[in-house]
Amino acid sequence: MSQSSQPDPAKLAAARAAVALVEDGMKLGLGTGSTASIMVRELADRARAENLSLRCAATSKATADLACDLGLKVETLDEVRWLDLTIDGADEVDPDLHLIKGGGGAHLREKIVAAASDRMVVIADPGKIVDQLGAFPLPVEVLQFGFETTRTLIRRALAALDMEGHDVMQRLKDSDPWVTDEGNLILDLHLEVIHDPVALAHALAAIPGVVEHGLFLGMCDLAIIGKADGSVVEL
Ligand code: 5RP
Repeated sequence: MSQSSQPDPAKLAAARAAVALVEDGMKLGLGTGSTASIMVRELADRARAENLSLRCAATSKATADLACDLGLKVETLDEVRWLDLTIDGADEVDPDLHLIKGGGGAHLREKIVAAASDRMVVIADPGKIVDQLGAFPLPVEVLQFGFETTRTLIRRALAALDMEGHDVMQRLKDSDPWVTDEGNLILDLHLEVIHDPVALAHALAAIPGVVEHGLFLGMCDLAIIGKADGSVVEL
């Protein structure tokens, strides 16, 4: 495959199984992150080998650049409009296929693209499977305007849900604020466990400075979990 270092075998197995779902003529959403990058490479290899006609919308600048470099046809979401299938990674997957996403800071575009798809397939390694969401810090994309006020409002919302006392940390990159593709900032909510993801999602969405949170509830249709031996399990 067209990649210098060897990909993680579990991620590769999941990526290959998802790429096998792609059919000629499809409009595809391309996720973000290390697993999604492996998938994009596998997809480009397959599209080239089988001369597939595909139209793709990417969930980040990084993925768009990678897909373009590999020869995939990348258009804006508004050009493609509606997608047959989106394939993306996740930070946590629970038994109801509820997800935490946004470890790569792309969950805003990822959620928009997933919402514009007939089918969202998550690809992951076994370490992403959890009984309950929350060990992975929940990313929340917030506006720069009133950033500290939004952080206070998030703390109050957590307290109202009996989840006070947890760190609400600004995400940094090389000591500077992490700025998303949309020019916003990220707060990572270190919650340890989320007992009621629906209530938390509603509470966060009701805060004006919150642009989007990383809880993906009822959006994932299939999770393909790759294993190091190359096999996969579907959830
Ligand atoms: C980016 C994401 C990624 O899909 C998630 O962080 C998983 O990444 P990786 O495949 O590198 O573990 O949500 O915003």
